[in-house]
Amino acid sequence: MILDLPKWFDLHTHFRQGPAVPDYIQAHRAMGCAGALAMPNTQPPVSRVTGPATPTAWSIESYRAELSAAGADAFEKLIIPLYLTRETTAAMIAEGAASGLLQACKYYPPHGTTNAEHGMPMDDLIGSDVLRAMEDHNIILCIHGEQHGLSGPDYIDAAHNAETRFYTERMPRLIAAHPRLRIVCEHITTRTAAEFVKSAPGDIGATITPQHLLYTLGHLIQGLKYHLYCLPIVKFAEDREALRQAVIVPGQSRFFAGTDSAPHTTKATACGCAAGCFTGGCAPQLYAMAFEETGIDLGTDAGRTAFENFLSLNGPAFYRFPGSTQRFRMEKAPSNTTVLDTPAGPVTPLPTGMGVELAWRIKA
Ligand code: NCD
Ligand code: ZN
Repeated sequence: MILDLPKWFDLHTHFRQGPAVPDYIQAHRAMGCAGALAMPNTQPPVSRVTGPATPTAWSIESYRAELSAAGADAFEKLIIPLYLTRETTAAMIAEGAASGLLQACKYYPPHGTTNAEHGMPMDDLIGSDVLRAMEDHNIILCIHGEQHGLSGPDYIDAAHNAETRFYTERMPRLIAAHPRLRIVCEHITTRTAAEFVKSAPGDIGATITPQHLLYTLGHLIQGLKYHLYCLPIVKFAEDREALRQAVIVPGQSRFFAGTDSAPHTTKATACGCAAGCFTGGCAPQLYAMAFEETGIDLGTDAGRTAFENFLSLNGPAFYRFPGSTQRFRMEKAPSNTTVLDTPAGPVTPLPTGMGVELAWRIKA
C-alpha cells in the first residue's frame, strides 16, 4: 500500500540552537515535512521580537535567521512563537504583529517542562494587556496546558493530573476573559483536554503527538523506557482512546499534527530524566500506525482523507496559511529508525528507544 499525501507541517517542534540544528531540520525534511512551528524554549529563550541575539535572549528575527541558515530556508513556512515572559509587553505584541514577524506566542508553565523557567503563571496572564493585545492583533496563543507547581498526587494520580487540573480550572477562566483569543492547546494527552477542545466556543485547536496516540503510562513504566518520557507525560488507555477518537472523526478541523519532537543528547541524568521525545524522521509513520491501531484502513478513501486532514490540512487551515502543493509518499513496509549522530552528540528517536519497528517507510 502506498499513501500519496500533501507534504505536512509540524506545528509544534523543537529545533534547539547550536551545531546540531542542521541535523534536526534535515530529519524533518526527510519525513515529508514542508514547514514547522519551532518552539522558543531555546537557550536563551526567544523572548524578543526584533534585534540581535544576546546572551539572555534570541529575538524571533535572529532565531529565524539562525534556523534559515541551518536549512529551514527550504521550508515553505516557519513560525516562531514568542516566549511569554515577565518582559513581554503589549507594545511588543502590537509591533510584532505590524512587522509580520509575530504570529503566535507560547505559554510555558513556570518550571513545568524543559527550559520553562522563564514562563509566567497563567493566573498573571489572564486579564493582562498582553493577552488583550494578542486578541486585538489576531496572534495565536500556544499553550502548554499543565498546572504548574504541583507535586506528588496533585501532579498525577489515577483521578487527576496537572493537565486535567489546567483544563478544568484555568482554561475556562482564560477563554471567558479572552473570548476572541485564538488558542492552540498543545500536545494534549487526556480525555479532559480532548473534550474541552471539542466543545469550547471560539477558535480553539489542538496538536497531538505520535507518542500520545500510541502509548500509555504502562509503556513508559514497564522497563522504564525513558526515551518515551516527555511532558505532558503519556497517560492512561481511556485518554489515549479519547485522543484517537478525536483525530479520526471525518471532517474534524480542530485536531492536527504537532509532534513535539524534542531532541535531547542526554536523556537520563544522575538525578532524573530530560523531558522530550525525538521523532525526527519517523513522525508520519508513527501517526499512520496510530490511525491503524484505531481501526482506520488507510487504503480506503475515507481513511486516507481522515489521515490527510489531521496530518497535512487542518494545521495550515487553523494557522491560516496554504497547505503544501508538494507531495510525499509513504509505503506500508517495515522500516527502522537509527540513532541520529549530531555534532552535539547522539539523539535516540522514539521507536528505537521503545524497541519497536515502524510499519511504514517514507519513499524517497
Ligand atoms: C520539550 C523540550 O524538550 O523542549 N519537552 C517535552 O517533554 N515535551 C518541551 C515541551 O514542549 O514541553
Ligand atoms: Zn514541545
